[in-house]
Amino acid sequence: MADGLLAEAVAQVRELIDAARASGDPEPTAMTLATGDARGRVSARIVLLKELDERGFAFYTNYESAKAAQLDELRHAALCLHWKTLRDGVQVRAEGVVEKTSVVESDAYFATRVRASQIGAWASLQSQTLPDRALLDARIAQYEREFEGRPVPRPPHWGGFRLVPDVIELWYGQRARLHDRIRYEQVDRRWSKRLLYP
Ligand SMILES: Cc1cc2nc3c(=O)[nH]c(=O)nc-3n(C[C@H](O)[C@H](O)[C@H](O)COP(=O)(O)O)c2cc1C
Repeated sequence: MADGLLAEAVAQVRELIDAARASGDPEPTAMTLATGDARGRVSARIVLLKELDERGFAFYTNYESAKAAQLDELRHAALCLHWKTLRDGVQVRAEGVVEKTSVVESDAYFATRVRASQIGAWASLQSQTLPDRALLDARIAQYEREFEGRPVPRPPHWGGFRLVPDVIELWYGQRARLHDRIRYEQVDRRWSKRLLYP
């Protein structure tokens, strides 16, 4: 069944993250996110994978950041996770279109963050020029005062994106022989699975 293959790929990635966490990887959900703009300029940075299910790979960020501007312009993106010490090295790649998570989801995740991170989401004008570090400290102090004694609400400019995959590829390092690549791909709403030459 086509959806069964997506479920299989997602379950495999979740197992790998759990195994990486169990093996002591300090950032098992760190992933490189590549985005681009309409002129073909490409940019990559690390974000943390916060939710993974058959809907896709969700991460949280500032909706006014450079990455968000690129995602507004070109909805296609790619991401890559790598665990150096798992088995003989494992890589997961995913590609697809990115959409915003629902307001309800963003609120729910924001509520789980530690207070300092919540204040930081208000204080940081992510990707804009910071003329002086003291300005950031002043903005943090300002929002600490503003929300003193009450829960910090989610800023409207902060929330999640979800990469809805049409490609998921698992790459397993092999010390003694060539690596294994397993590519799950969705074409015309049907998922398929095949091996690729390494
Ligand atoms: C380990 C690690 C985890 C990070 N996690 C996030 C994240 O979840 N969300 C985020 O917006 N930035 C995260 N960052 C910062 C981004 O890499 C990046 O500096 C920031 O999002 C601005 O990117 P942009 O200017 O391309 O929008 C993380 C950086 C590192 C090194």
